[in-house]
Amino acid sequence: MEPVHIRDKHFKLFIGRDEIQQRISHMAQQIEQDYSGKQPIFLCLLKGSFIFAADLFRAVNMPAEVSFVRLNSYDGTNSTGEVNTLLAINDILQDRHVILVEDIIDTGKTVHELMKELEYLQPASVKLASLLSKPDALQHDVTIDYTGFVIPDKFVVGYGMDYNELGRNLPDIYVLADQED
Ligand code: IMP
Ligand code: MG
Repeated sequence: MEPVHIRDKHFKLFIGRDEIQQRISHMAQQIEQDYSGKQPIFLCLLKGSFIFAADLFRAVNMPAEVSFVRLNSYDGTNSTGEVNTLLAINDILQDRHVILVEDIIDTGKTVHELMKELEYLQPASVKLASLLSKPDALQHDVTIDYTGFVIPDKFVVGYGMDYNELGRNLPDIYVLADQED
């Protein structure tokens, strides 16, 4: 597979589409078991999780709803440490079973802040599904209930994830080439 160039950087293939789909099927099965008899609402964090969320949501064979929230904490390849709400939640989440859907947990700041906000909306439960987890970068108290892949602290793009807004439409996940040893 050829390396891809995005702006000033080179990326190489890291996790292929088939491996991603296999993992998502497995995550969906776990969710079906855990939420049997319930009707969860998938709350997707835009923009990065939109492709993962679309695949996970379709893989879950049960009555379920979907909604979206948009926060922003990333600038280029670094977390800024500040989280802003760009699209607020306007669904009634009181007494609902919420499954937060994230592309990647890096420092954990975004999800940590969102969890605090969600408490005010009094959901029945909140769980977190994240396609990727970078435990070496984690700085906040975040528990991932459904993890796709645990990866090293390296910058990735594709399958929804971007480098300064480009690369989201790559069907596979790529890693920054000069970070790979
Ligand atoms: P956190 O708040 O530091 O956990 O950052 C989480 C958000 O930063 C994720 O939802 C992603 O949108 C973005 N992010 C973190 N790591 C990467 C990466 O390696 N590539 C692209 N985006 C990333
Ligand atoms: Mg994101």
